[in-house]
Amino acid sequence: MEMNDRFLRACRREPVDVTPVWFMRQAGRYMAEYRLIREKYSLIEICQHPEIAAEVTMQPVRALGVDAAILFADILLPVIPLGLGLGFSKGEGPVIGSPVRTLEDVRAMKPFDAESDLGYVMDAIRILRGTLGDVPLIGFCGAPFTVASYIIEGGSSREFLKTKMMMYSAPEVFHALMEKLSVVLSDYLVAQIRAGAQAVQVFDSWVGALSPSDYETFVLPYSQNVLQAAKNENVPVIHFGTNTTTLLPLMKRASGDVIGLDWRIPLDDGWKIIGHDRAVQGNLDPVTLFAPLSEIKARVHDVLRRAEGRPGHIFNLGHGILQHTPVDNVKAVVDMVHEYSAEKVEAR
Ligand code: CP3
Repeated sequence: MEMNDRFLRACRREPVDVTPVWFMRQAGRYMAEYRLIREKYSLIEICQHPEIAAEVTMQPVRALGVDAAILFADILLPVIPLGLGLGFSKGEGPVIGSPVRTLEDVRAMKPFDAESDLGYVMDAIRILRGTLGDVPLIGFCGAPFTVASYIIEGGSSREFLKTKMMMYSAPEVFHALMEKLSVVLSDYLVAQIRAGAQAVQVFDSWVGALSPSDYETFVLPYSQNVLQAAKNENVPVIHFGTNTTTLLPLMKRASGDVIGLDWRIPLDDGWKIIGHDRAVQGNLDPVTLFAPLSEIKARVHDVLRRAEGRPGHIFNLGHGILQHTPVDNVKAVVDMVHEYSAEKVEAR
C-alpha cells in the first residue's frame, strides 16, 4: 500500500500534495461510536485493553479521513505505575489519589519502566501499525510541567496555586519532581517510538500559565530532555502548548521539529516568531467547529492563507476538539483543507 506520507513530509518541511490535517482529541465523546464503547468501559479500561484502544484510535481515521492517527491514551497514564493513583470524576476531570507536595513524596514515587509498566500502550501501538494501513501513527506524552501540575494540584487547576507555590517557596522539591518526570516521560516516549509510533507530540497544555523567566528556569531544561530523547530516535517531534505567545522562542529553544500554535496568535505571526526553519501545527479555534459552515470555511481559509503554502504547515486546531462538536463539521474541515490547498498547488 502506498503510504499517505504528507503528514510526515510536512513535519520535515518537505513539499506536499495537499496540506495534511489531523485534530488533537480527534477520538472522544463527540463521536457516537466512542460513546457506545464508553457505555461499557471507563476511559482507563479502554486504554488498558490494547485492542479497544486501537479500535478507538481508528474511529476518527475512518470517519474523517484525517492524515494522521493519534494513539488513544492519556497523558496521565504514567501516574498509575508511579503509585499516585488516577481516577476520572464526572465534571471535575482527572483526580490524583496521592498528590506530591514534599521531597519525601517525590522520593516515594515508584521506579518506572515504560515497557513493563505501560506495556498495554505499546501493545496498542503494535496492533495499530498492523491495522492503520497507509496512515501514520502519532504517539504522545504530557510535558513534565503539565503532568507535574496535575500531580501537585491533585487534579485540574485554573490558577496553579499549589504548583507555583512549590516553585516559588520550595524550588528544590519542584526541580526534583521535574527531574524525575523528565526521566519517566523520556522513557515512555522512546518506548512508544520503538513500538512503532512514527511521530510524537509532547503536550504542554497548561504551560501558558507561566512567565517566560519561570519557563526558562523551571521548565525548559526538563522539556528539552524529553524532546531530545525522542529526537534521538529519529522521528519528528511536535512540541505543543497553549497560551504560549510569549513563550514561543523558549519553546523553540527547548526543541521540536514542529511547534504547535493555539488560536490566540495569527498563524503567520507565530511562525515568524518561531522562524521558518521549523514546521508549525495549528491553529483554528476549536469553538469555530460549532459555527455555520460558511463561517468555518472563511476561518479555515484564513489559517491556510497565513501559511502561504509554505512547506511545513500541518493543519490542526489550536487545542483539542470539544465534547459536543458536530462530527459533520469536523469532516467538512478535513475536506476544506484538502480542497483549498489542492487548488493552491495547482495554481502554482
Ligand atoms: O487526541 C486523541 O484523540 C487521543 C487521546 C487523548 C486523550 N487525552 C483521551 C481522553 C489525548 C491526546 C489526551 C491528552 C490529554 N489528557 C491532555 C493534553 C491535551 C489537551 O487537551 O490539553 C490532557 C491535559 C489530559 C488530561 C485529561 N484527560 C483531561 C483534562 C481530561 C478531561 C476530563 C473530562 O472529564 O473532560 C481527560 C480525559 C480524557 N482523555 C478524555 C479523552 C477522550 C475524555 C473522555 C472520556 O472520559 O471518555
